Amino acid sequence: MAHEFGTRAIHDGQEFDPTTGAVIPPLYLTSTFVQESIGKLRGGYEYARGGNPTRDGLQAQLASLEGGRFAFSFASGLAAEDALLRSALKPGDHVLMANDVYGGTHRLVNRIYASWGIELSVADFSSLDAIAAGLRPSTRVVWVETPSNPLMKITDIAAIANLAHEQGAIAVVDNTFATPFLQNPLALGADVVVHSTTKYLGGHSDVLGGAVVLNDEELAEKIGFIQFAAGAVSGPMDAWLTTRGIKTLALRMPRHCSNAQALAEALVGHPAIESVLYPGLEDHPGHELASRQMRGFGGMLSITFKSGEAAAKKFAESTKLFQLAESLGGVESLVNYPSEMTHASVRGTELEVPTNLVRLSVGLEDPKDLIEDALEALKGLR
Ligand SMILES: Cc1ncc(COP(=O)(O)O)c(C=O)c1O
Repeated sequence: MAHEFGTRAIHDGQEFDPTTGAVIPPLYLTSTFVQESIGKLRGGYEYARGGNPTRDGLQAQLASLEGGRFAFSFASGLAAEDALLRSALKPGDHVLMANDVYGGTHRLVNRIYASWGIELSVADFSSLDAIAAGLRPSTRVVWVETPSNPLMKITDIAAIANLAHEQGAIAVVDNTFATPFLQNPLALGADVVVHSTTKYLGGHSDVLGGAVVLNDEELAEKIGFIQFAAGAVSGPMDAWLTTRGIKTLALRMPRHCSNAQALAEALVGHPAIESVLYPGLEDHPGHELASRQMRGFGGMLSITFKSGEAAAKKFAESTKLFQLAESLGGVESLVNYPSEMTHASVRGTELEVPTNLVRLSVGLEDPKDLIEDALEALKGLR
């Protein structure tokens, strides 16, 4: 019988060490493996770029949590995205992307793949009509991020997967914001899930990593080959830290969600704030869809300021518990000014982020302290 999420997060890919009984599988800090005779491997391992038991443990854990047959872990989220895109695309192909994906994802395709003959266009993915209009006969990848970064838009994964499939394209979902605890894109019809495991999966802001999870064997073979042949693998220490983080994901996510909900509700109606973008708020345009598609609304929220850029920057530089830094998904709360930080690379493009917007990664501190910190930073702002 399949176990529940919280059990799988702790046990899948994490069997105790049969040699010593160590309850935590060893961290295999080794670059190579001694062979019994030429080509006769002892445990199936040859050289650590091709495979390492610590990385395999993480990949098994990730496959289990996303409900996919295959998972590959990489040195960063962008390395994972790169391996997937190189496996799925050839010159002349077109990628359709949501118009508010993570800036680095857009940069990867726009600045690197463009010179290899890949076409890119963007559309507002909260409108199915806009997506349908954006598809071309040459579209091979439809790239979704939901909730999106940093506008917190919600996209209908099942509907997009259908549209993509009718066009002969694959639907890729960046599930970094939601995590597999809150949303399983493969079960909703998507073909591939990608993660920056740097965020909620690692969960403690101490390691970079990325992952690709999927069911299709042919595409998986290509990704596995690129992982081996191009070599942007996660090192054993990174894989081990990520695995350790994932074991508590089922405990952390409910608290991220309840803290973000409490903060969002406390900020609504403040005279300096134009809008609070959080799908857990009933008047959020994606609230109903998120309620169906997700099992919680996540720990990320954005706010926009009535009086514009100066107020947004002042707020971002005034909070104390919310520390000013890029990234998200750790136990500690962070504040980010996307226009000049995480999304600086998309300034001047169709993905440009409003300059009056601040993004908050709501951590696991006491919600009372987080609300007080935000309200204090809002004092004097109009
Ligand atoms: C939603 C999302 N996807 C992908 C990435 C890229 O991941 P990494 O920074 O691990 O390369 C990020 C990084 O911020 C992200 O926020």
